[in-house]
Amino acid sequence: MLDIKIELTNAPKQLPEKDNPLVFGTIFTDHMFIMDYTLGKGWHDARIIPYQPLSLEPSAMVFHYGQEMFEGLKAYKAKDGRILLFRPDMNAKRTTKTCRTLCMPEFPEDDFVQAIKELVAIDKKWIPTKEGTSLYIRPFIIATSPFLGVRPSHTYKFIVILSPVGPYYPEGLDPVKIWIEDEYVRAVKGGIGEAKAGGNYVASLRAQVKAHEEGFSQVLWLDGVHRKYIEEVGAMNIFFKINGVIVTPMLSGSILPGITRDSVIRLCKDWGYKVEERLISIDEIFTAQEEGLLEEVFGTGTAAVISPVGHLRWKDHDMQVMDGGIGELSQKLYDNLTGIQLGDAPDVHKWTVEVS
Ligand code: PLP
Ligand code: COI
Repeated sequence: MLDIKIELTNAPKQLPEKDNPLVFGTIFTDHMFIMDYTLGKGWHDARIIPYQPLSLEPSAMVFHYGQEMFEGLKAYKAKDGRILLFRPDMNAKRTTKTCRTLCMPEFPEDDFVQAIKELVAIDKKWIPTKEGTSLYIRPFIIATSPFLGVRPSHTYKFIVILSPVGPYYPEGLDPVKIWIEDEYVRAVKGGIGEAKAGGNYVASLRAQVKAHEEGFSQVLWLDGVHRKYIEEVGAMNIFFKINGVIVTPMLSGSILPGITRDSVIRLCKDWGYKVEERLISIDEIFTAQEEGLLEEVFGTGTAAVISPVGHLRWKDHDMQVMDGGIGELSQKLYDNLTGIQLGDAPDVHKWTVEVS
């Protein structure tokens, strides 16, 4: 158990106006969790303090070589007042894997969950309750050694901040338009694509800017070797429903093993669907669409939840998925998943964890 020192703010901020839409990632709560790591000493000085700027040396290694990782999960307020987290143990496990990939010290998984629970409990009045909103939790680790040589840092900070959020995409649950990237590559097998590292996101920006300029919300990445097999979208994993079967790219080493992906696979299997995790070529998708077999396309992610895809562009081929609306399965998954997260639907897999 962590012994967390608590310093409460004496200048609480104003909560967001109830009727104003919460734009994703723009508002931060009153407090943050922070803990330091020193080589030879381990993680130490766990504390919850008022949300505030950090003081770092300009030579801190994170600024130069990008040794940084982050996670994302959400807290929800149930109708009966309980505060629920969704599978935080999975984020803790993924943090361990990411830290190994990035040569960072592992953060103890129980401490990860405890830190989040205590911080969320302190800032619980910030959990929004309007439909489609939640409290987004952003844990991250940065390399802080003041050093310009290239090697793993000797000191780090683990920090958790909280942000009340609405939908990640302005479209909400309305279908998004996706650009299939065939020039740039996000990650390759043997690289760090399956880690939740900031570096993967900076690698995605060029294509995202290009996609936005063309009027598309997000980029769908193809594999970096053949430029043929579907990987994932900028901030979510991707699923296809082809002739009744649910198909999603297998975890190849270059895509993020999404927690929502894992949950959606479980739910689809529970409902009797055949689910295939395998290589999917982009040709297969266009052929399925031409043959009238492509029934649904949707993305999955913590921020994005379930995001139906209505339109895809690959080179000069444009495709509308069925009538361009929300598919039946996408809607059912959204309702069921958010139902479990909010404590309204039965949680048969015991995915939610209560913040006491
Ligand atoms: N893929 C990428 C690149 C992401 O950033 C995310 C978001 O976290 C996901 C997939 C979905 O992962 P999860 O469902 O764990 O949020
Ligand atoms: C999440 O869904 O939690 C993510 O990390 C996506 C993020 C890039 C906004």
